[in-house]
Amino acid sequence: MLIQPAERIEKLPRYLFAEIDRKIRIALDKGVDVIRLGIGDPDKATPCYIVSRAMTEVQMPSNHTYPPDAGLPEFKQAVASYYKKRHNVELDPEREVAVLLGSKEGIAHISACFVNPGDVNLVPDPGYPVYGIGTMFAGGEVYRMPLLEENFFLPDLAAIDQSVADRAKLMFLNYPNNPTGAVASPEFFAKVVEFANRHNVIVCHDQAYSEIAYDGCKPISFLEVPGGKDVCIEFGSLSKTFNMTGWRIGYAVGRAEVVEVLSRYKTNIDSGTFKAIQYAGMEALTNPEMASFQEKMSAIYQERRDVAVSMLTGMGIAVCVPKAAFYVWAKVPADFASSTEFVSHILEETGVVITPGRGFGEYGEGYFRIALTVDVPRMQEAMERISRVLKK
Ligand code: MLT
Repeated sequence: MLIQPAERIEKLPRYLFAEIDRKIRIALDKGVDVIRLGIGDPDKATPCYIVSRAMTEVQMPSNHTYPPDAGLPEFKQAVASYYKKRHNVELDPEREVAVLLGSKEGIAHISACFVNPGDVNLVPDPGYPVYGIGTMFAGGEVYRMPLLEENFFLPDLAAIDQSVADRAKLMFLNYPNNPTGAVASPEFFAKVVEFANRHNVIVCHDQAYSEIAYDGCKPISFLEVPGGKDVCIEFGSLSKTFNMTGWRIGYAVGRAEVVEVLSRYKTNIDSGTFKAIQYAGMEALTNPEMASFQEKMSAIYQERRDVAVSMLTGMGIAVCVPKAAFYVWAKVPADFASSTEFVSHILEETGVVITPGRGFGEYGEGYFRIALTVDVPRMQEAMERISRVLKK
C-alpha cells in the first residue's frame, strides 16, 4: 500500500526544535557533553505549591472524568483575576477566557477558525514558527512583517501593502518578543488597534513571556490599550511563567466572539485539559507567592543574560540586549556564510546548542539565539567554549 500524506503535510517543514533535538541526540550518542541553549525550556522546577496542589487534585476521583467543555470555571476565574491584578483589565471569565492545552495549541488552531483559502495572515519575521504553520494548514497565505533592529524589532505597519492589509484576516504579534527580547510600547499597540479597525484584522497577541523582564521593565498586555480588547485575542501560557512547559496549560482571552469560535472549534477536536492540571494552574495564578516567584525567576535570568551578553560582547559579537523574555539575540560573526553554518560549527566543535536565526524566518538570517536556560557556571562554560573556537 502506498502511504501518501496530504499536500499540506508534504509542505510541512520539520519543526525547528524537533530538528535541533535530533542533532542533540546524535551528539549525545557520541558522548559529547552537550550544553543546551536551544529550545526555551526552563531548567528550574515548577514551584512546590503548584506541584502539591496538583498532587492533591490528582487523587480526587471527581477529577478523573472529562473536564467541562468550556474549561473549568475556577481556572477561568483565576485567569480573569490575574488580568485584573496584573493589567487592570476586566474579563468576563465565561465569555472572554478559553482554556488551552498550552498557548501553542491555540496559536496553531486560530487560523483554522478564521482563515479561508486565499486569505492572508500577517506574521512577524523573525517569529515563532507556529504562526506561519497554522496559517498554511488553514490554506492561508503568510505575509511576512520584517522585525528589523533599526525599528526596535517592531513591524512597520505603514510598509504593509494596502491590498495585502485589505485581504488580511489575522495579525500575529508577540511581545515580549521571541526571539529578539524586544518589548512593545502602549503607543505601538495603539497604532495596531487603529490598523486592525481600519482593515478588519483580528490581532492575535502571543504573550507567553509577559512575566520575565529585566531592569524594572513591566511588559504590558495588548488588552490594556484603549480598544485593544475589541480587536484582539491574547494567548497566555503557564509554561515559561511557572516553569510548566511539560504540563500543557495555557489560555486565550479577549474579544468574546473570537474566544467563542476558538472554544467551539476546540470542543470538536480535543477534550480539554485534565482537571487536576487546571486546578494546579488556578493555584499558580492566584497563590500569593506568585509575584515574588516571578521576581526571583527574572533575577535568575537577568544574571545569566548579563553573563552571556558580556562574554559574547567580549568575543566581538554584536548583541541585542533583551529587555524581556529569556533569549539573547546576537549577530553571526562575519566569517560565517549563514546562521545555520555558524550553529552547526558551534555544535560540532563545542557541544553547545544554539538556534540559527534563519529558523525563525528569512529576516532572522544573520542572527543566532541563545536561551538562558542553564545556570551561570554552565553559561560561562558555554561562552568559553564558543570563544575558544572563534579564536582558532
Ligand atoms: C522556543 O524555544 O522558541 C519555544 O519555546 C519553542 C516552543 O514553545 O515550541
